Amino acid sequence: MRPGQLQKAGAGSTPGPQAKAETRFELLTHSAAETLEFGRLLAHELLAPCLILLEGDLGSGKTTLTKGIVSGLRLAKEDEVTSPSFALVHEYGQEKKAYHVDLYRIESPQELSTLGLEELFAQPAVVIVEWGEKLGKYATRAQFRIKMEYLASDDRKITVERLAA
Ligand SMILES: Nc1ncnc2c1ncn2[C@@H]1O[C@H](COP(=O)(O)OP(=O)(O)OP(=O)(O)O)[C@@H](O)[C@H]1O
Ligand SMILES: [Mg+2]
Repeated sequence: MRPGQLQKAGAGSTPGPQAKAETRFELLTHSAAETLEFGRLLAHELLAPCLILLEGDLGSGKTTLTKGIVSGLRLAKEDEVTSPSFALVHEYGQEKKAYHVDLYRIESPQELSTLGLEELFAQPAVVIVEWGEKLGKYATRAQFRIKMEYLASDDRKITVERLAA
């Protein structure tokens, strides 16, 4: 995908229960390197403040995509972007910032409220949230929902939805 290529989800697209998507784009990647490259391209579409929800099973490639996005934003090198499964939130950049959040371990809205997400959202930052489906009321602020699906050992389907304001 090249920047600016997100297509309108017009006639023929299936509005599901979360019919807020105004554009939808699907692609297949056949290696982690391709997912990284897609993340780098997607970074050009992002204008902070921006919230991205990442959904998909364990190992579907959410962290890999995030490495691409954060490196595409030039806020860190790919190998400096690691899974925030323990810290829950990792911060990258200084003047411009990206936050990488992992909600895998979060089990309740009470736990969610301990993460200080409001503070992150108040900043002109790109915020990327793994297990974005757990974000509850905050999800309404999201500009993108990205679903990652495992197809085969090196193959993933990535569905990008740009969400209506
Ligand atoms: N096409 C692909 N896209 C992304 N990752 C791939 C692909 N093919 C193989 N992989 C491998 O799959 C794994 C994806 O792991 P990653 O940590 O990115 O997933 P995750 O969705 O963040 O998992 P978790 O839910 O545990 O956080 C990596 O080991 C990566 O090298
Ligand atoms: Mg991960």
